Amino acid sequence: MTSLQDLPLRDRLIVALDVESVEDARALVATLGDAVSFYKIGMELAFAGGLALVQELKSSGRKAFVDLKLHDIGQTVERATRQIAKLGADFLTIHAFPQTMRAARLGAGDSGLRLLAVTVMTSYDDEDLAEAGYACGVRELVARRAAQTKDLGVDGLILSPQEVESIRALVGPSMLLVTPGVRPAGSETGDQKRVMTPALAIAAGADHLVVGRPVTRAADPRSAAQAIVAEIASGLDIASRLNHPR
Ligand code: C5P
Repeated sequence: MTSLQDLPLRDRLIVALDVESVEDARALVATLGDAVSFYKIGMELAFAGGLALVQELKSSGRKAFVDLKLHDIGQTVERATRQIAKLGADFLTIHAFPQTMRAARLGAGDSGLRLLAVTVMTSYDDEDLAEAGYACGVRELVARRAAQTKDLGVDGLILSPQEVESIRALVGPSMLLVTPGVRPAGSETGDQKRVMTPALAIAAGADHLVVGRPVTRAADPRSAAQAIVAEIASGLDIASRLNHPR
């Protein structure tokens, strides 16, 4: 397996294709050209036929992250994961419930599909967990699920930039940590409440950043993506000076 330190710089930026049609997504990929190599297909685009883009992206040398946050009975998760693996996707999200993680691991087999677990949705707070019947708070549940993720052989975690540093300390250097909620300095935060700049998120221990609107809604998306990649490079530099190279 490639070490995280061998990750090409450009592959650390994942652009979220949060658009409503496959045509809009193709146009965005064409606009971004060689500035972006990794794309995320979420529910909106997937339900508009966007899973077909996985093979298109792969055949043009790009990478694809399928963000469908799977959670169902084990048999269904296993079989669904196998289908996503057959498409050639690089990353797939699942919810961090032990039964779901075990099943997805079986479905992924040795396909090369890497599983990323969502511990607790970042839109949830302690009150939401209490309302849903949990007896613990968000921090405790994130830590518990992060530890289980590692034990069950899941490849990585999706988490908020604020959680990266403490979770990196808990799970060690080999788990992939992927974070949305990233905003270049001076940009609009939109509905994201807890944001961090690309350089700081990488310096805190993230491996990949998921960025949507700061690229897709920029006046010049290509330059916006290139500027984020440059910020990622400076974050890697800070990380190596802090003696924890990513
Ligand atoms: O436009 P923006 O940069 O906020 O997009 C972030 C992307 O990451 C969106 O596709 C969003 O669904 C996803 N995401 C998130 N927060 C999470 C999990 C996923 O923003 N906790």
